Amino acid sequence: MAQTVTSIIIFNAGRTTEEAMAVEKRIEERLEELNRLREQGHLGGGLKRIEQQHLKGKLTARERLELLLDPGTFQELDPFVTSWAADTEPGSRGYLGDAVVTGFGKINGRSTYVYAQDFTVLGGSLSEAVAEKVNKVMDLAMKNGAPIIGLNDSGGARIQEGVVSLAGYGELFLRNTMASGVVPQLSVILGPCAGGAVYSPAITDFVFMVQDLGQMYITGPDVIKAATGEVVSHETLGGAESHATMSGVAHFNSASEQECLSEVRRLLAFLPQNNMDDPPFIPPFDDPARTDDVLTHIVPDDLVKGYNMREVINRIVDDGDFMEVHAQFAQNIIVGFARMGGFSTGIVAQQPLYLAGVLDIDASTKAARFVRFCDSFNIPILTLVDVPGFLPGTEQEHRGIIRHGAKLIYAYAEATVPKITVLTRKAYGGAYLVMGSKHLGADINYAWPTAEIAVMGPEGAVGVLYKDELAAAENQEELRAQLVQEYRTRWANPYVAANRGYIDDVINPAETRVKVIKALEMLQNKRDTMPPKKHGNIPL
Ligand code: HXC
Repeated sequence: MAQTVTSIIIFNAGRTTEEAMAVEKRIEERLEELNRLREQGHLGGGLKRIEQQHLKGKLTARERLELLLDPGTFQELDPFVTSWAADTEPGSRGYLGDAVVTGFGKINGRSTYVYAQDFTVLGGSLSEAVAEKVNKVMDLAMKNGAPIIGLNDSGGARIQEGVVSLAGYGELFLRNTMASGVVPQLSVILGPCAGGAVYSPAITDFVFMVQDLGQMYITGPDVIKAATGEVVSHETLGGAESHATMSGVAHFNSASEQECLSEVRRLLAFLPQNNMDDPPFIPPFDDPARTDDVLTHIVPDDLVKGYNMREVINRIVDDGDFMEVHAQFAQNIIVGFARMGGFSTGIVAQQPLYLAGVLDIDASTKAARFVRFCDSFNIPILTLVDVPGFLPGTEQEHRGIIRHGAKLIYAYAEATVPKITVLTRKAYGGAYLVMGSKHLGADINYAWPTAEIAVMGPEGAVGVLYKDELAAAENQEELRAQLVQEYRTRWANPYVAANRGYIDDVINPAETRVKVIKALEMLQNKRDTMPPKKHGNIPL
């Protein structure tokens, strides 16, 4: 207070009292106007529309940003921008800030750029002004190397602005593409996201959806009904459940906005700020030298029996904290983030409990995209392998398992981050090569004593190699069992590969955590580059 009084006295030095009072009044009026405009802007589309938003079970853009960011850190940009197309008469639709709230703030103490579409203003639709606001924060995020998070809740292109709003989406797609692999981009779907608008989230690294709130589709139920006669609800067509389980468009599926935004914060804690940065190292409470005897017994003797690879993961990572990505999609493969000895690590692992951990089209594309994300952002990859092969069958062949499986090979082969692989059980045929093998450039490959590496499984191999002998034998089954056992002893074990150095060591499963952490430490300064090229041509 004393300081304010002193400043006023210094400022008004040389003025008469009347002049000084007039100046003070003008300043006060200007500040009052600023506050009034701010309040108006904060109300978005107005109290009635905010109430409607709440009645739909949705938070407003500003409420969402408050939940997402560290308290008190949000700095708004462009609160006075209005749509050029709007009639700017008082009481008209010249909404201050238009249909999006943009700015920057902090998450876990680290800089983040954000935009939140405001459904209370013309359904959150994208006008030229909205696009320019979003593009501005995207540019800032890129220049300053920090993640960008978009909270989506919009009716799409602003119909009244026609092609200009389409152009806005185009500019956004361009920036999403330019930012890809430079800063992490996260999309959160908290309302409608329809038509071409879906392609901005689709280009970003991770899509979060909230059940019964977020919906994404190229064409809505009405258009589908008109075009094909099919009747489908918004939720079935493009809700969180559908995209998290069937299409794979959504990486995370939450029950509420609160849970979803807290998951966004959790994910960012594993990621670096940009592609030139290292992921945050968090000194572990969990002892890096901790062993776990349960792992020695976890693989069943019977080869056809499954075991839960998620349990293996939970037992080897710091504090059992594993953030699974795409948890409900292509569950035969598991991908996600954890820390090992404090190092942020991307984990890719077969799930023997689901389709025996086979590699099919969805598993291949899911894992390939995850590997490429980790490689873009300097996150080491740990691969846990127990793979019977690629899924056989006409359906998979005709849908292009050759093309899609190739993506995973390509992703592993071009990844230059530290790559550590542990074979827990079987690794047959091409799938052995795909899953982070030494031949695709893995740095350290370990195998548990239970590992079997071979061109194909013992039963298949015996059938091919001893077809005639088996056909001629009186005691076929007995002979088959004996041959399978001989094959397993001779070929299907980790030692043939270890003899060649394809496996760096056969380890006691109980020591997996220790061995992986030591390898991660050793690989901290890994330097590896790809040959100069504009870009590769990953099979799409
Ligand atoms: C202008 C829009 C709008 C839009 C909604 N509104 N969408 N205004 N442009 N695209 C307005 C509505 O007129 C309404 O204003 C207010 O927002 C709230 O909308 P409601 O319909 O009352 O809300 P709700 O019942 O919840 O339905 C939401 C909705 C529906 C499902 C999103 O509004 C809708 O179907 N909108 C059109 C969606 C669409 O087809 N968009 C174009 C997609 S194509 P008032 O004043 O009446 O309250 C696209 C191209 C992108 O986006 C291309 C990129 C390449």
